[in-house]
This record gives sequence, C-alpha cells and structure tokens, in this order.
Amino acid sequence: MDLAGKTALVTGATGGIGSAIVERLRSAGARVAVADRVVDGIPAEVHLPGDLLDPEYADGLPGVAADRLGGLDIVINNAGVISRGPVTDTSDQDWALSLGVNVEAPFRICRAAIPIMADAGGGAIVNTASCWGLRPGPNHAVYCMTKAAVASLTQCMGMDHAHQGIRINAVCPNEVNTPMLRSGFEQRGFDPDTAVAELGQTVPIGRIAEPEDIADVVMFLISDAARYVCGALVEVNGGKPVS
Ligand SMILES: NC(=O)c1ccc[n+]([C@@H]2O[C@H](COP(=O)([O-])OP(=O)(O)OC[C@H]3O[C@@H](n4cnc5c(N)ncnc54)[C@H](O)[C@@H]3O)[C@@H](O)[C@H]2O)c1
Repeated sequence: MDLAGKTALVTGATGGIGSAIVERLRSAGARVAVADRVVDGIPAEVHLPGDLLDPEYADGLPGVAADRLGGLDIVINNAGVISRGPVTDTSDQDWALSLGVNVEAPFRICRAAIPIMADAGGGAIVNTASCWGLRPGPNHAVYCMTKAAVASLTQCMGMDHAHQGIRINAVCPNEVNTPMLRSGFEQRGFDPDTAVAELGQTVPIGRIAEPEDIADVVMFLISDAARYVCGALVEVNGGKPVS
C-alpha cells in the first residue's frame, strides 16, 4: 500500500493499537501527526500531546495537524478508556471520563476534520468502536454504551458525508493484547501473560488479537480497496462473539 504524499492524524497513538496504526501508516509512506497524553519518543512527523477531555484541544487537533502536515487526508479516532462494572459501580467520574474520551472527543475531532477534508476533495476517517458496542457485554455497561454511541455516530456520519468524498467507518475489535486489556488482568490480580493465553483459548481462531491484526483492517478501510465502504462497522473478532 502506497500512502506517499498522504497525511494522517492518529489519537491514542501511544497505546497498543494506536502505535501499530502509526507504524503501518508511516511504513506505507504517510506523514503522521500523533496525539496522546504523552507522545515523547514516538517516531512521527508531528507530535501533538494533550488531553482529549479538553474541548479546545480536541476541537483544534485536525486544524493543527493539517497546518503542520500541509493537509489532512486521514483521521484515526482511536483513543479510548475502559470503565468496568455494572452501572451501580459506575461513578460520575467514570461516566464523564468514558463519555468524554470515547464519544465527545471523536465527535469534536470529526466535526473539525470534515470541513478540512471536504475543502480538499475528500478523505477517510476510521473510528475505533468495539464488538462490545454492537452487542451487550457483561459488567462493562458504560463502556459498551460509549462504543455503541461511536458506532452509531460513524454510521450516520458515513451517510452524511459520503457525498463530500469522505468515507467514515469504524473498526470493531473484540479482545486485543494491549495495555488496556492487560491492565485489567493486573488490577484483578492475574498474570497478564497467562490470562491472555487462557483468553486465547476462548477465541475460535485460537488467540486474541494483536494490535497489528486491527491496524491492518484500519489500513484496508483507509485504502482505495475500500473506496465504496461508507458508514461500515467492521468486526475483527477471530470468530468470537460477545459473550
Ligand atoms: N484492547 C482491547 O481489547 C480493545 C477491544 C476493542 C476496542 N478497543 C478500543 O481500541 C482503542 C485503543 O485501545 P488500546 O487497546 O490500544 O488501549 P491503550 O490503553 O493501549 O491505548 C489507548 C490510548 O488512548 C489514550 N488516551 C486515553 N485517554 C486519553 C485522553 N484523555 N487524552 C488523550 N489520550 C488519551 C491513552 O493514553 C492510550 O495511549 C480504544 O478506543 C479501545 O476502546 C480495545
């Protein structure tokens, strides 16, 4: 895949899936702006550290990325947080954090990026939703709800902006071997390597996803091979349904 001359903004770029997406984009020749709370040391053309809970930062990211990169062809809204437990264990702080990072930030970034892309004749946006937003999962009520929200937003935006040459889609992973998943095991007192191996046995394909398994689907969605794909929610789950 040749992305020479293309420019991209990736949020959550320091994380497991985000860093794999950045690596794939840059290997294909794209110039990339990386956004996360800390972006020191990430190989990229432009570094935009900040907190997505800050509305000014989120609103400004696409414009700053476009100015610094000389355009904005691709946006990957990948940053996310997970809150665990039923609603009865969900604090106001969990609610605000989950909605802020998983829903409001992609909304703000898409709202700012779409006019920039439209003026340039088009572009591609990929949001990271989750299988756990397409169907209910146990003990992650607010997380599932935020991923359902971003999935719905993606479907609607995919319809609304196709006529501007902007394709907006979502990738929906099930379990991926990243700090988000591993930290959950650690918090519950499990050895992450053992837990990941055991979890892999519950997946029909025989293992949970690695970040690159998700990044490759993101690369497909931004590629010309997906030129007719708008508003799609692409599950990447190794054959495993949400339990
Ligand atoms: N790991 C999984 O099993 C899994 C499954 C389905 C979907 N997802 C989704 O994939 C995406 C990437 O997750 P990951 O597994 O790579 O997790 P991760 O924790 O490794 O990465 C998430 C990144 O988002 C960043 N982020 C969080 N809050 C932020 C804020 N307020 N401001 C700026 N950056 C912030 C973090 O710093 C982190 O680098 C998320 O949207 C997640 O919900 C993950």
